Amino acid sequence: MLIKDLKVGSQVRQALLLRVQKVGTSSKGGTYARGLAEDKSGRVQFICFEKSSVEKLASLDGPTAFKVTGAVDAYKYSDETVNQLMVQHVEPLGPDDDIKNIIPHGDFDKEVYVTKLANLIKTVRNPVYHSLLEEIFKGETYERFLKNPAGSRLHHAYLGGLLQHSVDVAGLALVLADQIGGADKELVITGALLHDIGKLKEISYQVGFPYTDSGRFVGHICFSALTVQEAALRLKIPLYKAEKLLHVLLSHHGENEKGSPVACGTKEAFIVHYADEIDAVMNQFAASDEAGKESWQFNKMLQRYLYTKA
Ligand SMILES: [Fe+2]
Ligand SMILES: [Fe+2]
Repeated sequence: MLIKDLKVGSQVRQALLLRVQKVGTSSKGGTYARGLAEDKSGRVQFICFEKSSVEKLASLDGPTAFKVTGAVDAYKYSDETVNQLMVQHVEPLGPDDDIKNIIPHGDFDKEVYVTKLANLIKTVRNPVYHSLLEEIFKGETYERFLKNPAGSRLHHAYLGGLLQHSVDVAGLALVLADQIGGADKELVITGALLHDIGKLKEISYQVGFPYTDSGRFVGHICFSALTVQEAALRLKIPLYKAEKLLHVLLSHHGENEKGSPVACGTKEAFIVHYADEIDAVMNQFAASDEAGKESWQFNKMLQRYLYTKA
């Protein structure tokens, strides 16, 4: 049963992704672990008091998939009553456990986006930008680019999310560039397609989309620039020829306070930055369930309630 369909009294025995938020001691002296249980349809808070399971959960260093046995209970949380999964037992997944429900897939046509990506690359005639795009979007990097999420949790956090996000940022950026005028559109497209390429090193596409160690050390913004630098070295392109592109990548979060080592200083950089922001925000409204009803939901990325589908 998917998490979105759970009701008070539902019994659970299935693969779920568990994110432990706290391990502590209860008022009766026993230990407990609590956090979020997730599948592709949503998440529910869980609590577990069973000693051997709490020990397993306490030793995790990131979100982990388990076969979870439990039942859903009602939990009074401030003035709201919410569902809570009382986890009775967790065990490692076996080869026969069905994990397709715990890996989120985006609701978009991947083949359409693969074609859009190829067409965008074709429109870039500038030899430096074109050869960098061809050099980066090939082989293993290209295959990973088609699979990776663009976020661990906040936006486009599903298989193929990075492809969809990068292509849509390019599309939005082109509309802005057209309307504004005077921007180098080939730089805008190249910057949009490559702005988050560093997420391949920052976020894994394994179950739970965990951050990698390298990702925490370096971050995707610098990795995006490093990816271009490495490609330029392989192609023997002097780096100064790619400086405007590096600026777009390094400033795509807009400001130093938002993680960019340089703030936007060119038209193309502002255009890609705003297109990126629009696309990430609009993705918050992407419904995981067509039939879901609209209601006010708290949104973690924007830290506010949004009127969106559950
Ligand atoms: Fe980014
Ligand atoms: Fe982005």
